[in-house]
Amino acid sequence: MCGIVGVVGNPEAQQIVLTGLQRLEYRGYDSAGIASLGAEGQLTTRKAVGKLQALLDEVATNPMGPSTIALGHTRWATHGAPSTTNAHPHTGGLGPNTLTVVHNGIIENYQELKSEMASLGAKFLSETDTETIPYVIAASLAHSADTMAQAVHAASKKFRGSFAFVVMKNGENNQLTGTRRGAPLCIGVAENANYFASDPLALAGITSKFIFLEDDDIATISPQGVEVRDATGKPVERPVKTLDLSTDLAGKQGYKHFMLKEIHEQPAVVSSILQAYTTADTLLPTLPMGSLNLAGVTYINIIACGTASYAAMVGKYLIEQYARVPVNVEVASEFRYRNPPYPPGGLFIAVSQSGETADTLAALEHAKAAGQHILVFTNVTTSSMARAAHAVIDLMAGREIAVASTKAFTAMMTTLSLFALQLAAARGLSAKEISTHITALRTLPNHITNQLTNTKPLEDLANHLTAASSMLYLGRGSLAPIAFEGALKIKEIAYIHAEAYASGEMKNGPIALVDKNLPVVNLATSTDGLFEKTVSNLKEVEARQGQVILITDTEGATKLDTHTRDKLTLLTVPTVPAFISPMVFTIPLQILAYLTATAKGTDVDQPRNLAKSVTVE
Ligand code: AGP
Repeated sequence: MCGIVGVVGNPEAQQIVLTGLQRLEYRGYDSAGIASLGAEGQLTTRKAVGKLQALLDEVATNPMGPSTIALGHTRWATHGAPSTTNAHPHTGGLGPNTLTVVHNGIIENYQELKSEMASLGAKFLSETDTETIPYVIAASLAHSADTMAQAVHAASKKFRGSFAFVVMKNGENNQLTGTRRGAPLCIGVAENANYFASDPLALAGITSKFIFLEDDDIATISPQGVEVRDATGKPVERPVKTLDLSTDLAGKQGYKHFMLKEIHEQPAVVSSILQAYTTADTLLPTLPMGSLNLAGVTYINIIACGTASYAAMVGKYLIEQYARVPVNVEVASEFRYRNPPYPPGGLFIAVSQSGETADTLAALEHAKAAGQHILVFTNVTTSSMARAAHAVIDLMAGREIAVASTKAFTAMMTTLSLFALQLAAARGLSAKEISTHITALRTLPNHITNQLTNTKPLEDLANHLTAASSMLYLGRGSLAPIAFEGALKIKEIAYIHAEAYASGEMKNGPIALVDKNLPVVNLATSTDGLFEKTVSNLKEVEARQGQVILITDTEGATKLDTHTRDKLTLLTVPTVPAFISPMVFTIPLQILAYLTATAKGTDVDQPRNLAKSVTVE
């Protein structure tokens, strides 16, 4: 959450920062700001509330003057409402040293630091935790530190929480200093200029060479070079990686929204996964497992947040059914603080599109410290989680820009399905049965494509749902997590309150909500042996005048009697083996949420209050 860009040594510094911030807007979009130092080291700052366009307009109206150094920030508010006063960069100084900072994350002990700094003469203007940073660094400079790196090092020891920040000393227009703990920060390396960014994407087209900082590294960049010190203050060489970011800048390619583009990319994503991770002739899974001995795995924790946690639940169903290994799926924010026992032979799997979600990363580190083997399913192979893992499964979904996850979810379920089969193979499931399931997976791109061609029935339903203030989503077995994901999607982008339950749980409480105003989306497939039970649950809704919406497969639809059929809104998906049902049933729910949101006119790609990458806990 929050995006940072810093440039030193480039006469286009301000433009590079503004372009970089536009690309980082997915990290937060409630306010933005930029600061630069002129030839004499004088500070100029511009800030604006709202999307980045507001800052671009502000800078166009009030140009900043020439400079070769600049810092910028796009904010997802934590401490203090979105306002120009709370927008970054924040400036503060003690004695001769005034510093300007941009920050991502949370300084948890900011209140005690504020009191301490106020007693030294600090004057706080904002409600942010960030504003303590320049003062604490200035205090270090005044007392013990000779260089900015030393001052940031000393100051960082006082900060609690997870954060990344970059700081500029007013009057010194030839260097920037940055550090990270938990939150991401990389350095873009180039000739005669160097850069900081929360994500390499910010610097696409400027450089292809990146250094990813480790926790508590302190980096100083200048036009002449980069110097990195580790947590002990010793100079270190971090590897420089070359990245090709060209495909990440592809834009919407004619689609109205990134979300719609990403929904349509799903057939290609599934094809890429199957091509990369299955054998063409024998149809067996080949996910890279590093040194992990799959046959020795006795217990699995799959830890994730949000949409990724629903993909993890699908993974649990398949792993337990086919590999017969017990699986615990848990949201990372709970797992990380409850000191769970780790059985010998345990495997820890983190699932994360971004690979940066703070809670998931912290849970991973907890498990790693306890000696568990760490497997990460992620879409960003340079992410913090990928770097901390023993083995990484690349989700191969391509960059996902829309805040509401779609193609990454499908990629997670597809790769976890392959993992279930690979584990099952190691535990003796026959190659014949495994190849049957992989043959089913290979039909998935076509089934998804077909569903994307006729969306008219979903459009009619979406128009009806614009009037709904609340909804229920129900599903059984491996479709229960899909119900959860469907409810999350409609909440996130259409702002309709939605609850999801395993169908059988409805009678234990949620049924009290059912009345003629409540749309209830039921998911049922004829291929999992649970169809009749789910139909019984929807009859219970019908008997209480709820608006029954049934998504079932074409075969399932034929099993309904006329009376039942007449009383509900019926949407069909193709009849497919139960193994791939979760992916097939996901598609109409994604489209339904998208169409309802567009019918309501919400900001589909950047819904209110959210950010794509959740790097605070
Ligand atoms: C999905 O639509 C959400 N925006 C959100 O729940 C997301 O899945 C969650 O924050 C986890 O993100 P990650 O996959 O990058 O870890």
